[in-house]
Amino acid sequence: MNFLQQINTDPLGVTQSLHQRYGDVVFLKLGPYNWYSFFHPDQVKEILVTQARDCVKGDRYKQVLGSVDGNGLIVSEGEFWAKQRRIIQPAFNHNCLANYAEAMVAETKRTVASWEPGAMVDMAAEMTGLTLMVANRVFFNIDVKKEAQELASAVDVITKALYRDFGALVLLPDWLPIPSKIEKRRAIATIDAVIARALKEHRSSPNDSKDVLSMLISAADTEGDGSKMSDEQIRDEAMTLFNAGHDSTAAALAWTWWLLLKHPDTYEQLISDLDNCLEGRKIDLSLLPRIPLLAAVAKESLRLYPPAWSIPRQAAADIELGGYKVPGGSFLNIFPWVTQRDSRFFDRPEEFLPERFLPENERHHHPFAFFPFGAGGHACIGKEFALMEMQLVIATICQQYQLQLAPNQQDVKPNPLISLEPKGGVQVIVSARR
Ligand code: HEM
Repeated sequence: MNFLQQINTDPLGVTQSLHQRYGDVVFLKLGPYNWYSFFHPDQVKEILVTQARDCVKGDRYKQVLGSVDGNGLIVSEGEFWAKQRRIIQPAFNHNCLANYAEAMVAETKRTVASWEPGAMVDMAAEMTGLTLMVANRVFFNIDVKKEAQELASAVDVITKALYRDFGALVLLPDWLPIPSKIEKRRAIATIDAVIARALKEHRSSPNDSKDVLSMLISAADTEGDGSKMSDEQIRDEAMTLFNAGHDSTAAALAWTWWLLLKHPDTYEQLISDLDNCLEGRKIDLSLLPRIPLLAAVAKESLRLYPPAWSIPRQAAADIELGGYKVPGGSFLNIFPWVTQRDSRFFDRPEEFLPERFLPENERHHHPFAFFPFGAGGHACIGKEFALMEMQLVIATICQQYQLQLAPNQQDVKPNPLISLEPKGGVQVIVSARR
C-alpha cells in the first residue's frame, strides 16, 4: 500500500506514527505539493498566533466549506473576517450564554423523555439529534417539528459531502448533474429554507427574542463603520454557526459518555457531586463552577478525542516555522489528536484522568498543548457555548438516568470524518434514577 492509500485508510494511525518515527516536524513531498506536519505546541503557537497572518486557511478548505457556508466566519479572512467576528462575538458573551442555557436543558429533557428504561440507545445518534435541536432553538428559534427529520438528513448529507470533497483528488463542481451533487444541493436548499423562514418570521414580528439570528439581524459594527449585515451575509453566518455548532459538540458528547461509562469510579463521583450540589434542582449556568469535575470531564474527553482532530493551514508566503524554512504555498498541519496525547505534555497521556483539568492542576499544562478549539484570532467562537452545552447535557441526563455501556462497547474506535466520531456509535442501556 503506498503512502496516500495508507493515509486514506488510517489517517489517525499514520499521523501518530509519522510523529513517533520522525519527530516534531515532518516534511512530505506529495506530487507537486509540500506537506508539513508539526507536532510540537511551540509550532501550534507559531501557526495559529504569532505567524497567523502568513498561515492562512487553504484554497481547498475555503472552496469546500465555502460551498455550504458561503463567506461565513469559518471561511472568511482578513479585514472582512475581523469585522464579522466583531459583530458576531457579542452573541457569545456571558449574558447571552445564560439565555441559551435554559434552551439546552429544556431540549435535553425533551430528548430523553422518549427513553424507555431498560432500552438500548445509541448516544452518538441521540447527541446528534439533541445538538441539532439545540442549534435550531438557540440560533433560529423557530418551530421545525414538521421538517425535523428532513433537517437531520440534510445535515447528514452535507457532512458526508464535505468529507468526500476534502478527500477528493479533484474537486468536482457542485452544479454537476450527478446524484451526489444533486443530493448536496437539495440538502443545502433544505437548510436555506429553514434560515429563510426564520429570517422572514423574525422580520415580520420583531421582538426582543434572544436567539442568535435576532442578534445577527440587529447587530452593527459599532467599532467600525456602524454597518449592518446584508441578508446574504446573515444567511452565510447563520449557516456557518448552525453547521459548526452542532456536529462537533455531538461527537464530543458521544465520546464523553463512552469515557465516563468506561470509568465507573469517575461516573459515580460525578453523579454524587451533581446530587450534592443540585439537590434535585435543575442545572443552570451559574451552578457549573460549583461542580468542577463536570468541566474537567468534558475537557479530558476533548483532549483524548478532539472532534477537530487536525487543523489545516497553508503558507501565504515564504516563512520560517520551528527553525525550518517553509516555502509559500506549502500545506501546514497541526494535530490536536497527536499533540494532546504526547507524554512530554501530559502524564499517562492515553489514560482518562479528568483531574488534570481541575482548576488547581490546569495551569501546569503547556498553553498550546491542549487546543481542541484552535487558538489565536480564529479560535472557535463557540468554545464557551460548546463547553457549557456539554456540561448541561451531561448533568441533566445524569440527574434522570443511570447509563451502562452495552456489553460489546468496551472498545469503540475513532472514525475521523469531518468530526472525530465513535465508529458505530456508543450503545448504552438506560435505567431511570427518579
Ligand atoms: C466541541 C465542540 C467544538 C469544537 C471541538 C470546535 C472546534 C473548532 C476549532 C478547532 C476551530 C478553529 C478552526 C481553525 O482554526 O481552522 C473552530 C472554529 C469555529 N467554530 Fe468551533 N468547535 C466546536 C463548537 C462550536 C460551536 C458550538 C460553534 C457555534 C456556536 C462553533 C463555531 C465556530 C466558528 C464560527 C468557527 C470559526 C471562527 C473564526 O474563524 O473566527 N464551534 N471550532
